Amino acid sequence: MRSLWFLTYNPMSLLFPSWSTSIPGHGCSSMRPEKQVVRDFYDLYGWEKSVDGVYKDTSAFVDRRPVLDRYRHRTHRRVSKYLPVQGEYFLDAGCGAIPHREYLEYSRGYRHRVCVDLSEKALKEARAKLGDHGLYVVADVTNLPLADDTFDAAVSAHVLYHVPYDEQEAGVQELYRTLARGRVGVIIYSWPDYWYSWLRRRCVRLCMLLGNLPGIRGAWNVIRMITGKHRQAAGNDQCMTGNERPPLYFRPHDRRWFRQTFGAKVSMEIRAWRSVDRLFTERMIPDNSFGRFLLAVIFRCEDLFPHLLGRMGRYPLIILRK
Ligand SMILES: C[S@@+](CC[C@H](N)C(=O)[O-])C[C@H]1O[C@@H](n2cnc3c(N)ncnc32)[C@H](O)[C@@H]1O
Repeated sequence: MRSLWFLTYNPMSLLFPSWSTSIPGHGCSSMRPEKQVVRDFYDLYGWEKSVDGVYKDTSAFVDRRPVLDRYRHRTHRRVSKYLPVQGEYFLDAGCGAIPHREYLEYSRGYRHRVCVDLSEKALKEARAKLGDHGLYVVADVTNLPLADDTFDAAVSAHVLYHVPYDEQEAGVQELYRTLARGRVGVIIYSWPDYWYSWLRRRCVRLCMLLGNLPGIRGAWNVIRMITGKHRQAAGNDQCMTGNERPPLYFRPHDRRWFRQTFGAKVSMEIRAWRSVDRLFTERMIPDNSFGRFLLAVIFRCEDLFPHLLGRMGRYPLIILRK
């Protein structure tokens, strides 16, 4: 059997093909309600597939129109740029079902990918894709049952902002603690606010002011009618409505919090992963070659101004160096 020396806490929490057990607190009432909500969302809904074979989490949160294929592919691959290409142990903290093929590739040059998640359903899906390359641990990213200085690389994508607000610091510290010295970990996070939502709010306020001028209100109503139709069409195609979904806890911190909390303790760099989100793409990116062109420009800007768009865009890459 392969070495499990890095597992410091309850080896029974490993999820093997024929059986699984849980860490203390997993599934029992001592788990915080926010975590129960997240685990139940992913166990019972997010990592279930809908009739078209797509995870419900993906259908709910991703703009899946083909016009975005290249942008999605290139931004997923952007993560690999910061990770060493090979090593022994790769940590995937909050691996989920490993829903994208590019995400599967991150650990290609590693002997083992250690997949950690609260959701057993996530780990079963991950195991179906990774097989023996993976080791599967039901655990909480804020309290990893793993030894210090172990991993040659770590990724935690779209996980920390689902961790209770006051435990996110522990999540980052656990990633840092388990990274080997001289190695790199990458977090994909979501800022609570970004340039497009900021601009929209200001535009709406300006329009409300202008709306009081004679003749403008009529024009505004026409615009709202047109854009409202466009939104409805996009929504029908790609997502379940909020009412059909179980609740999911989500509460991100802002940049200032990261700077103040980790500034002196952890070597951290913020770069752009994706500067735009689904709200932007569904409203602004038409489903044609002009849409593809706009996304290519956005991608290029993210490469040219990684720090600026890491700060001002929707999804930053937070790079930890130990
Ligand atoms: C949005 S999914 C992201 C999955 C994957 N990393 C990706 O990028 O596709 C979030 C995953 O994090 C897991 N998760 C959330 N909070 C967690 C925690 N405190 N400890 C471990 N896993 C957690 C959820 O169960 C879910 O599978």
